[in-house]
Amino acid sequence: MSNIGSYQKRLLNFNWSLAEKELEYHDGDIINIGWYCSDRICLQGKGDRIALHFENFAGKERKYTFNDIRLASNTVGTLLTNLGLQNRDRICLFMDRVPELYFSFLGILKIGAVAQPLFSAFGDESLYVRLEDAQTRAIITQSKYLPKIRRIRDKLPFLEYIIVLDHTKTKNLENKEYAFYLEEIPAVEKMEIFPTKSESPSVLHYTSGTTGQPKGVQHVHYSLISQYLTTKWVLDLQDDDIYWCTADPGWVTGTSYGIIGPWSLGITQCVLDAGFSAQAWYRFIEKYKISMWYSSPTAIRSLMKAGNELAMSYDLSSLRHLASIGEPLNPEAVIWSQRVFGKPFHDTYWQTETGSIMISNFPGMKIKPGSMGKPFPGITGVILDQERFEPIKEAGKIGLIAFRPGWPAMMRGYCNNQEIYKKKFVGRWYLTGDKGSIDNEGYFWFVGRDDDIINTGGHLVSPFEVESALLEYPAIGESAVVSKPDEVNMEVVKAFITLKPGFLFNSELELDIMNFIRKRLSSLAMPQEIEYMDKLPRTRSGKIMRRLLHAKEWGEDIGDISTLEND
Ligand code: PRX
Repeated sequence: MSNIGSYQKRLLNFNWSLAEKELEYHDGDIINIGWYCSDRICLQGKGDRIALHFENFAGKERKYTFNDIRLASNTVGTLLTNLGLQNRDRICLFMDRVPELYFSFLGILKIGAVAQPLFSAFGDESLYVRLEDAQTRAIITQSKYLPKIRRIRDKLPFLEYIIVLDHTKTKNLENKEYAFYLEEIPAVEKMEIFPTKSESPSVLHYTSGTTGQPKGVQHVHYSLISQYLTTKWVLDLQDDDIYWCTADPGWVTGTSYGIIGPWSLGITQCVLDAGFSAQAWYRFIEKYKISMWYSSPTAIRSLMKAGNELAMSYDLSSLRHLASIGEPLNPEAVIWSQRVFGKPFHDTYWQTETGSIMISNFPGMKIKPGSMGKPFPGITGVILDQERFEPIKEAGKIGLIAFRPGWPAMMRGYCNNQEIYKKKFVGRWYLTGDKGSIDNEGYFWFVGRDDDIINTGGHLVSPFEVESALLEYPAIGESAVVSKPDEVNMEVVKAFITLKPGFLFNSELELDIMNFIRKRLSSLAMPQEIEYMDKLPRTRSGKIMRRLLHAKEWGEDIGDISTLEND
């Protein structure tokens, strides 16, 4: 029996107070995610239960009980306080998926500070822009990332503490740098948890914008209410489940459903800190007897590519429920998973901004492969007419996916950017920036984004950021960035460039530009192809026509080009 039981019945008289009751929270109470994910589980008598099975790329294993993570997060929280950090300070987590990342996340929340997780593969520029915008006061990292931070710290006047938390002894520390080895510090049994309230800031995730720099999406401790209930009803986590969320906490899935959801429910989860390989993933499932698996369409397509035989050579019979997030889940992937695992992947849809799952295929619901499913109880989702912003009643008609604001995990603002935040609302609706339709049975179907953002392997990349970084390369005169189709990642980044006089385009230069972007931004933002042009297509007012380049890549009709500049 699934946790949700009947979706139809849950829709009737739904109220978020149901989650509040289960979490024993009353309006106006203290609510601290760090405490809920560790101390409360111990108070429920589950302190000896495994919270985390960890394995790294070299096969090194470690396991931690809920009591261990309670103590370790107390220890991190206390050392942060002793250094002089306090509530509302923004503290960046710049680490691989090591256990210290998970302890620190909870420790930061326990002192009332704001956790700002960033993907450890980010290059100098991506890291700098996000730390600068958030006026981040401290960064917790591993010694291997110190050189990267040292290269940019002089440009970051707000950054006062660089804290190294790992197992390698860090020698030759410089100004503002501190190193701690958790195993050597006496565990802190008791700490005063900062009395955060529902609207106290908790997590700050950066997401790519269409035109400007990345935007910091601010969440609050009350998000727990949505994250707890959606984990229970959509991911269907049950007491004896072994859960694996494959997302990195640098992205919202890795915090909402890779930390907060499972641990607030007291569920055992597994973390594999290694790059993708089909063999390694199947072995991991077999070894830890994973029963609930939350992954991404790109990973599923990569597994499909590795072949059925490989999947069949492992014992994957522990798998009970599968779900997917981040990009369109193609019908073939759902059908393949049914054939190979005996279970379909259940698509879920949400965003960094929404903080929790909005639309999904619930356990027990009829799955229509290719559809995202139906809104979570308490969520009003509509398709709006693109001109009048009125809900479209007609089944199948394409418009803008929008929600009625008011669910607990909704973002509370963009950091330093109230203007753009306000633009996300029209009338009574929050605009997701996505287009879709609803069929005659109330299922939502994703059509595409309503902007130029590229979704590569489930990660959003701003063409603006890549174009700006390209212009830093000495030989490049102009740049335009669009997506191009890709079998596995669905979309990848493609750049069009012109060169300054005196430079010649060849494969060596192309490779050098690619590397330049990888180091400055990340491997995700790195163009997979660079095409040289004598001249980029522009409108008469001088704006680069990305639309035209995009249509060329996707073999689409180029539409109205009447504003294209004449030669
Ligand atoms: O365009 C949609 C796509 O990913 C965007 C959100 O990305 P991000 O804020 O990075 O959060 C991703 C993880 C929560 C959406 O606006 N997207 C997300 N889920 C789906 C999807 N596109 C199609 N189908 C989905 N299930």
